[in-house]
Amino acid sequence: MKPSYQKYVPFPGVPMTKRLWPTRTITHAPAWCSVDLRDGNQALVQPMNLAEKLEMFHLLVEVGFKEIEVGFPSASETEYEIIRTLIEGGHIPDDVTIQVLVQAREHLIRKTFEAIRGAKNVIIHLYNSTSTLQRKVVFKKDMDGIIDIAVQGARLIRTLAAEVDQGTHIRYEYSPESFSGTEPENAVAICTRVMEELGAAPENKIILNLPHTVECCMPNIYADEIEYFITHLPHRENAIISLHPHNDRGTGVAAAELGLLAGAERVEGSLFGNGERTGNLDIVTVALNMFTQGIDPELDFSNIRHVREVYERCTKMEVHPRHPYAGDLVFTAFSGSHQDAINKGEAYMRETNSPYWEVPYLPLDPADVGRAYEPIIRINSQSGKGGAAFVMQSVYGYELPKAMHPDFGHIVKQACDEAGTELLPQAVLDLFNRYYVNISTPYALKKYRFAHCEDGAAPHVRFEGVLVRDGAELPLDAVGNGAVDAFFKAVEAAGVTGYTFLSYSEQAVAKGSDSMALSYIALRAPDGSTVYGVGLDSDITIASIRGILSAINRVAGGQR
Ligand code: KIV
Ligand code: ZN
Repeated sequence: MKPSYQKYVPFPGVPMTKRLWPTRTITHAPAWCSVDLRDGNQALVQPMNLAEKLEMFHLLVEVGFKEIEVGFPSASETEYEIIRTLIEGGHIPDDVTIQVLVQAREHLIRKTFEAIRGAKNVIIHLYNSTSTLQRKVVFKKDMDGIIDIAVQGARLIRTLAAEVDQGTHIRYEYSPESFSGTEPENAVAICTRVMEELGAAPENKIILNLPHTVECCMPNIYADEIEYFITHLPHRENAIISLHPHNDRGTGVAAAELGLLAGAERVEGSLFGNGERTGNLDIVTVALNMFTQGIDPELDFSNIRHVREVYERCTKMEVHPRHPYAGDLVFTAFSGSHQDAINKGEAYMRETNSPYWEVPYLPLDPADVGRAYEPIIRINSQSGKGGAAFVMQSVYGYELPKAMHPDFGHIVKQACDEAGTELLPQAVLDLFNRYYVNISTPYALKKYRFAHCEDGAAPHVRFEGVLVRDGAELPLDAVGNGAVDAFFKAVEAAGVTGYTFLSYSEQAVAKGSDSMALSYIALRAPDGSTVYGVGLDSDITIASIRGILSAINRVAGGQR
C-alpha cells in the first residue's frame, strides 16, 4: 500500500527567474476591507442575526474600516434585508463604502443592484472560480468558457451601474476565485478581459482581488504569484491589487505580508481571522504586526478587549488564549528568566525614559492595546526570584527592595508548590500582606507617642509607648536621633534584643482615594539571618515602626 502522503501533488512554483518582493519592506498601511459580515458570517455555525450584524458593522466602523463587505444580498432574503436595513437605517457613514458580493449570474446581479438602492458608496464585487481544479471537476469548462462567464457578468454590471441613481457612487471589484490555484497567465488573461469590460481607467480603477481561497502553498509562492500578476497585467495603473488570503496552512498572515511586499495595495480579511474552515486572514494581527514595526496601521485596536468582546458575542466564536495580541495569555510570562528580563526591561524603560519600546519578550506594549491594567505575569513554581516582585511592581506598584526579592520569591514558590498551580496576582499580594505587612503578633504596639526635643543638645526624638505580648505589657521609652531610631532602641531596652537595623526604604502607594506609605525594613535577626518586615500606614514614620515590628514578629512568631 502507498503511504497516504503520496496522494498529494506538490504545489507548482511560478515561472520567475527574478523577484523583487524579497528585497522590499512594508512602509505603510494598505487599504483594508473587512469581510467579517460576509466571508466570516457565512462560516459561522450560527450566522449573525440582524442585531448582531448591525453591532458588528458599527464595531468595524469604530475600528476604522473604510470598506466593509456587508453580505451577499442575492444569496438569501435575510442577507438582502440586512443590507436594506443598513442603508435605510442610516447606519453607513459617508466615508464608508459598503461592498456586496455577487456571482457572475444575471438574476443574482439584478437582485444585488436592487439591494444597494440609496447607498452612497458601493463596491460591487463580482467573482467566479478560475482554478485549474474547479474548471476540471466542477465547471467542466475550458478557460475561455470561464472567461466568458466573467465577461458576461462584468458587462451586465456596467450596464446596470449606468442606470443607478446619481447619488450612488459605484466602484467595481473582480475576484478570480481560487486565484492561487489558477495558472498565473490565465489569472492575468481573465482579469485583463474583465478590466476592459468594466472600462477600468486611472480615474475608475477596478479592484482586482486575488484570493488565496484555499491556502495550498507556502507564502513565498503566493507572493511570487502576486508579483507575477502585477508585472504581467496590462494597464496595471488602472487596477488596485487586493489580497484575500485564507489560512489553511496557518500562514495567512505571512501570505498577506509577503503579498504586500509583492506590490498589493489592499487587503481583505476579518477580525481574529474568522472565516471558512481555518478562517480568513486575521486583520488584527497584520495591523498590529505593522504597528510593532513603527507603521501606523490606520486601524484602531487600542481597546482590543472591547473589539474581542463584541466579536465573541456576535459570532459566538472564541479568541484562543494564545491568539496574537488579543489572547488572554499573550502578555503572560510563566518562565522565570522571561519574567526577570521583562522586569529589567520595564525598569530600563522607567530609568531611561526611552522613547522606544525596549522590553524583552513583549513585542508590543500591552498598554497600546488597552491592556495596561491587566496582570502581565502569573507566577508558577518555575518563576524566578524576581517574578513575584515584578507582579507586585507591575500590578500593584510595590517597589520591593532588590535584596528582598529572593525572600519573597521563596515564599511564593512554596505556595505554588503547595497549591500545585500558578498564582494570580491577587494571591501573590495576599501572600505579601500575610507574611510581611503590619504583623502584630506576638508583639503588638498598644499606645505610643513621640516628642521632638531641642534642648541645647543635637535635636533628638523621644519615643514612649507600650508593647503587649501574651497580655503582658512592656513599657517603651528611649531617645534616638529620629523616631525610628528611638523606637528601635526602646524595643531593645524593653528586652527584645539581638536585632540589628540593616536598611529601610519607603514609597508612597495609592490605596483607594488615600495615599499610604509603605516602609520596607531589613533587620539582622538574633540568629544572624536577614529578616524583612513591611509597614503600611498613612504616616511614613508609623509605617517604618510597623515595618520594624513586623520583622521582629516574623522571627518571634516563627512566621518565616
Ligand atoms: O475566498 C474566496 O475566494 C472568496 C471570494 C468569493 C472572494 O471569498
Ligand atoms: Zn474568502
